[in-house]
Amino acid sequence: MSLEINPSGFDVGAEVRGIDIAKPLSPEILMELEAAFVAHQVLLFRDQPLTPQAFAAFSAQFGHLQRHIQKAFWHPNVPEIVYNRNVDESGKFDEMAARRGVTDNLREGWHSDTTYDEVPAKATSVHAMEVPSHGGATCFASAHRAYDLLPDSVRRRVSGLRVEFALGSNPRNAQAQFLSQKLTQEDQSRPTVSHPVICRHPISHRPAIYASPLLSVRISGIDEAESDDLLETLYDYIHAASADGYRWDHHWRVGDTVIWENRGGLMHTGRLDYPRDERRIMIRCTIGSSPIEPYSA
Ligand SMILES: [Fe+2]
Repeated sequence: MSLEINPSGFDVGAEVRGIDIAKPLSPEILMELEAAFVAHQVLLFRDQPLTPQAFAAFSAQFGHLQRHIQKAFWHPNVPEIVYNRNVDESGKFDEMAARRGVTDNLREGWHSDTTYDEVPAKATSVHAMEVPSHGGATCFASAHRAYDLLPDSVRRRVSGLRVEFALGSNPRNAQAQFLSQKLTQEDQSRPTVSHPVICRHPISHRPAIYASPLLSVRISGIDEAESDDLLETLYDYIHAASADGYRWDHHWRVGDTVIWENRGGLMHTGRLDYPRDERRIMIRCTIGSSPIEPYSA
């Protein structure tokens, strides 16, 4: 069987077939996957249930594995893996755990991962262990399209600006505040970090909106009202870029592995629309580090 890359038909996403991801990838295959990753921003591998160790080994081929900030969710045997699960240790529905990275309202949930770090992660990988009978999709939208939709007047307003990101103290987003309760005191009081409002992908060099509704606090160096107005304007364009026909909703099956882009150009969020009495258990790795590059027109 040879490597097959099947685009989703939406702005982002492709399914990869023809390789066994439980085994080490050859340098040639890895190069093809890295190129497909830049082209499609999200890669899906189906029907290959993995042990946590095999999932971590697969993920580590794309970059070093970072330990996630939410220590409460670390896998007991493989701390480079964090659980995305909707039940607590006793199997009871856990509202806070279930709400990590997912939202009732797509417009408020878009984000890129680890934007609160000076140097965010290159990628995130997730492997599905248990999934609900329906709902609970992870949605992906192109932040390149969001930039492409921006009128020149808005592009001029945001040119050269930087945006601050917080993990524990984002007054603009109730969901982010709710989630921060599980953080240590030290992490909750971490200073914000800033990244360019408009970034360029380090390899494709395509521009994209990097400010995100879930995790951006304010645009630096302008007054608060103007910052709020500008952020809401940018979110309108992210929302427009996530319309039906553009956005890819990935409906999980057990044994799915997905790896997604965090270097700019992709926004994601999950849906909280599945039956609350059904389990949704995923394991996740945070992969590599990549500074966010400013884009200048
Ligand atoms: Fe996320």
